[in-house]
Amino acid sequence: NKARKKTHFVCTISNDTKEEITYCNMPITEIVEKKYTVTDIIGLLWFKQKFPVWASNFIDLIIKLTADHGPAVSGAHNTRVTARAGKDLTASIASGILTIGPRFGGAIDAAAKYFKMAYENKMEPEDFVEYMKNVEKIPIPGIGHRIKSTKNPDKRVGLLKNYVFNKFPTCKLINYALDVEKVTTSKKENLILNVDGAIGVSLVDMFWALNYKNKDIDNLIQRGAFNAFFVIGRTIGLIGHYLDEKRLNMPLYRHPVDDILYDEESTIEYSQEV
Ligand code: ACO
Ligand code: LMR
Repeated sequence: NKARKKTHFVCTISNDTKEEITYCNMPITEIVEKKYTVTDIIGLLWFKQKFPVWASNFIDLIIKLTADHGPAVSGAHNTRVTARAGKDLTASIASGILTIGPRFGGAIDAAAKYFKMAYENKMEPEDFVEYMKNVEKIPIPGIGHRIKSTKNPDKRVGLLKNYVFNKFPTCKLINYALDVEKVTTSKKENLILNVDGAIGVSLVDMFWALNYKNKDIDNLIQRGAFNAFFVIGRTIGLIGHYLDEKRLNMPLYRHPVDDILYDEESTIEYSQEV
């Protein structure tokens, strides 16, 4: 019965007009009976497919490892400040989510994009680093961390690498990224392959192994589908930080003025945080 009036919306992922909701044509009763996991549901609703167990479990690992990184990071800080201003759950976690971007948690798509481009163009790691510096003129997305370094390695990256090397049918892009990391860490010890970078390149390897065409992977990256993994993971932690503030009944937060340099007369541009 497709010959009916033109609709304003088209939906290809779920249907609530039948006896029970379906996700990609599968009734939720069947989804429950077949013991689909939360990550299987992500496969259905984001990518319209049931991923094989190794891929579904990788998504599960990403969610576990990105769920939180303490109260000091941008997202948790914003959520806590907002909660203390008396706002509700949705407003508080939204303000945290809004910090996810190119420097914090949201470098996954760009990391996937640039490492994939470099690998496909057979760029030597050294040449890629120079290209990003001189041509793109941006920090390499997926490289660098404020506190993690070769001397203080990020366990999360180790766990991701371990999973990919043991369970993935192909590890091409993560291997390339690790060669790039050798170059960047030889310049500065904190220029490691970070969580965003490790997730970004591993997701490309995952979709390559799932036989996605390059064009389709590029479209996913361009739409922000890879950053979505950090958003879904970190939302768990943001809710935790919001509930913690309320549980502790914390008062309004006001930043200490002795931690702010008031300098109205100055013409200097302050480019770096202290
Ligand atoms: N590529 C190349 N050089 C870099 C990079 C990078 N990704 N990151 C830092 N540098 C260099 C800077 O150019 C600077 O060099 P200089 O001292 O010669 O001027 C030096 O390292 C210090 O740079 P800062 O920006 O001060 O380093 P900071 O510790 O503040 O940066 C950050 C941390 C923001 C993560 C940075 O490394 C970056 O922008 N990385 C790319 C974005 C990214 O991957 N973000 C996700 C981080 S992981 C997460 O949020 C879960
Ligand atoms: C995070 O997961 O939030 C981080 O790696 C960012 C940070 O500064 O620790």
